[in-house]
Order: sequence, then C-alpha cells, then structure tokens
Amino acid sequence: MDWGLKNRLAQIIRPETGKAVMLAVDHGYFLGPVSRLENPAKTIAPLMQYADSLMITRGALRACVDPLRTKPIVLRVSGGNSIVGKDLSDEGLTVSFEDAIRLNVSAVAISIYVGTDHENRTLTNLSKLVDEGQRYGMPVLAVTAVGKELAKRDARYLSLCCRIAAELGAHFVKTYYCDEFEKVVETCPVPVVIAGGPKLKSDEDALELAYEAIARGAAGVDMGRNIWQSRYPVPMIAAIRKIVHEKMTFAAARELFEDLKKKHPAEARVK
Ligand code: R5P
Repeated sequence: MDWGLKNRLAQIIRPETGKAVMLAVDHGYFLGPVSRLENPAKTIAPLMQYADSLMITRGALRACVDPLRTKPIVLRVSGGNSIVGKDLSDEGLTVSFEDAIRLNVSAVAISIYVGTDHENRTLTNLSKLVDEGQRYGMPVLAVTAVGKELAKRDARYLSLCCRIAAELGAHFVKTYYCDEFEKVVETCPVPVVIAGGPKLKSDEDALELAYEAIARGAAGVDMGRNIWQSRYPVPMIAAIRKIVHEKMTFAAARELFEDLKKKHPAEARVK
C-alpha cells in the first residue's frame, strides 16, 4: 500500500485500536429527506465529535458540513436511483475522481449489487474505482447493498459479496451484521465494517448489534439510522464508540447509555 493510501485509510480505521466509528449520513442519495436526516447539518452537528469519519454525499458535504470543522470524509460516489424508482440496484458512478480529490476526502464508497440484474455494472464500476484509487492513493469502500431485499442478509450471501468486493480490490468493505458473522469476516481478506440497517425495535438491540459485530471481528461500524433515528442519538453514538474503541461489554454499554440519557434528554419527535 502506498503512503497516501495508507495514511488516508488510517484516518478512518484508527491505528490506535484498528477500529473505525463511521457516521453514515449518505441516505438522502436514494431516500431523499429520510426521517431525522431532514436537515443533515442539524443531525450531524452533535454527533460529529464521537465519529472518526463521516460517510456522506458531495452535495450534503458542500451544503451542510463546515470545511473548517469536520472529520475525515468517506464520500459516496455511486447512485442514480431512488426508493420510488423501478430498481434500487441500478446504480452508476455519480462523482468524478477529480471532484473527490478536490473535496480532500479520505475514501470513496460505492454500492455493489451481487446477484441482481446490475451485478456486472456495479462490480465493474467498483473495479474502475479501485484503478483510480490505486492511481491517486485513495481507499475504496465497497458497500454490499441489498436494496429492498433485506432477507438476503445471511452469512452465505454476505460472505460471497464481501469476498468478491475484496477480490476486485476494495480496500475495505461495508456489509450487514448477520448470524455467523465471523464467517463473513474470516473469508474476507480486507477489513469489514457493518451498516446498522433500518431502525431496530429498541436502542438496546442497536447496542447489541454493534457489540456482537465487534466481538465477531468487525473492523468497526458505519451506522446511520440506529444512531440518528434513536430518541437519544448522542448517548447512542457515545456508547457505540466505547464498544468499538474500548472493547466495552454490551452490559456496560447499556449502562452507559442509560446514564448518558440523563444528560442528553430525548429529542422531540416531529410527526
Ligand atoms: C445506505 O443508505 C448507506 O450506504 C448507508 O450508509 C448504510 O446503509 C449505513 O447506514 P444504516 O446504518 O442506516 O444502514
């Protein structure tokens, strides 16, 4: 790995612990103004100090994040579809490498849709991005997307996706947590971080998900909805950070979360 690529990746997967707390706020690229991310600047502001990096689109980055007070950026560079469109897997590249470099980002991220009609296109786009990444010293994150088919999230399918992404040259991979998650990690030669997925039933479930993922070998989390759709987003990300970087147990993280709730009152819900 070249110096620049290593240096950028170290801004995301922290060398002190070998782990990453990434805050995902890129959802608007296909979901529009998703609940609790209607105003990205407002959502991001109180959470940023707890994250090592932000995963975001270039539009939201330019409009909602102060370049003087920010964190390393993982830039989403794929898209071109929407939740109301025909097929979520129909993604192309949406940002030039030149613009990613202009934005001084630390990594670029692309979704791949293995086993769909657009498998070939999304995988060859990943390869093209890796070629550019190698040229400019920019790590590439492959996101193993499932679109609306959430039931696909099992170890067999996710291992297949993660391994293919790594074989095509992705420097790290984002996937979902699943039963037998350790198999996904063991068969993927590059670091694996997890997405949180749609909001779980309880805050406790989200903490447990983060804990289990780390315990089973994840290199970190790249979570969004289970943080900022919680009624207690600051306690949630603070407790997750402890799990990821300080090996905090699930029980201790739950206790910390409860304590922090007293200092950070619940956010008002907008109907
Ligand atoms: C998809 O919308 C994005 O790639 C998200 O960054 C990813 O799904 C992680 O966010 P969440 O934890 O909300 O699933």
